[in-house]
Formats: sequence, C-alpha cells, structure tokens
Amino acid sequence: MLKSYEAKTFTLGTLDGLSEAQIAEHLKLYAGYVKNTNALLQKIEQHKQHSEAMAIELSELTRRLGFEFNGMRLHEYYFSQFETSEGSGDALKKELEAQYGSFDAWKHQVSATAMMRGIGWVLLVQDETNGNLLTIWVTDHELGQLGGQKILFALDVWEHAYTVDYKPTERAKYLEAFWKNLNWQNVEERY
Ligand SMILES: [Fe+2]
Repeated sequence: MLKSYEAKTFTLGTLDGLSEAQIAEHLKLYAGYVKNTNALLQKIEQHKQHSEAMAIELSELTRRLGFEFNGMRLHEYYFSQFETSEGSGDALKKELEAQYGSFDAWKHQVSATAMMRGIGWVLLVQDETNGNLLTIWVTDHELGQLGGQKILFALDVWEHAYTVDYKPTERAKYLEAFWKNLNWQNVEERY
C-alpha cells in the first residue's frame, strides 16, 4: 500500500509585495493538490482488480495524477524558497555564472520565460548526466517536465499566484516581488 501525502507547513513571516491574504489563498490551493493526489492514488489502487470495462476510468485517473502530483510538489519547492535559511553557500550561483555568463543573465532569462503568455512554471533543473543547468517552462504543472532532472528552483506563474495582490496584466510586478522575497540559500541547498 502506498503512503499518503500530507500538506507541509511553511514558515514564511511577512513578505514584501506578497500579502498574507495572497499567500493564504495560494496555500489553500496547494492543500487541494495534496488532497487530490491522495484521492487519485486511492482510486488508482482499486485497479489492482482491474477489468477491461474500467480502462477509460484508469486512463483518466492516471493522466490526472501528473497534474495533481506535480501541483503538490512544485508548490512545495515554491513556498519553501521564501523561508529563512542559515546557509551561506554559493556553488550554484558560481555554476550559473559559468553556464549563463552571469547570475543576472540567468535571472533575466527566468523573468523573460515567466512573462510568456499562459499559465505554468519556470523551473531551473539540473541534468545529472552532464551538469547542465536548464531553465525550462512547464505548462500547467506537468507538461514540459524533462525526464531525470533534479528540480532546484520553481517559480509559479499561474495567475492565482498573484491576482489577490495584482491585476492579471501585472505579472511583471509579481515577478519583482518574487525575486525580492526569494531566499536564494534555499535554492543553493538543493544543489
Ligand atoms: Fe500556484
């Protein structure tokens, strides 16, 4: 039997440009992904006694799992980036400088990707086969994820991430607030 997932709690304090109401609303959505991941896993488990008549149901449950599970996991990367950290490493920053020319150049690419029309995520992932640090776009929570990558950084650009505080057309203002509140040490610790 698979273990079920529990919603994590995050120690966020007061953020600059992201209100408590915005974060509370966003955390409610996160809890929904955890709940639905558990519900889907339970339903999929019933297919141990699978019959052909249940094939459509299994297909749809399984497809849905990618959306809900990644919705859960990516939000955990996202919110924990705002927590305080004792760390002081800069190995990832140095490697980004080596691969992108400068840390600011990488940030610029992230922000440009985050301004894409549509909802989804910008991720920084590490390809463990050759060390490439790839900046990628993921539509919804699951479309465009690359196989076998370690997730180092996650930026949510679904409109729900900012429309309590900003207008849908004000994504750039949200990005400014995101960078201000990001605690880079949490990202370094994943590297
Ligand atoms: Fe979100």
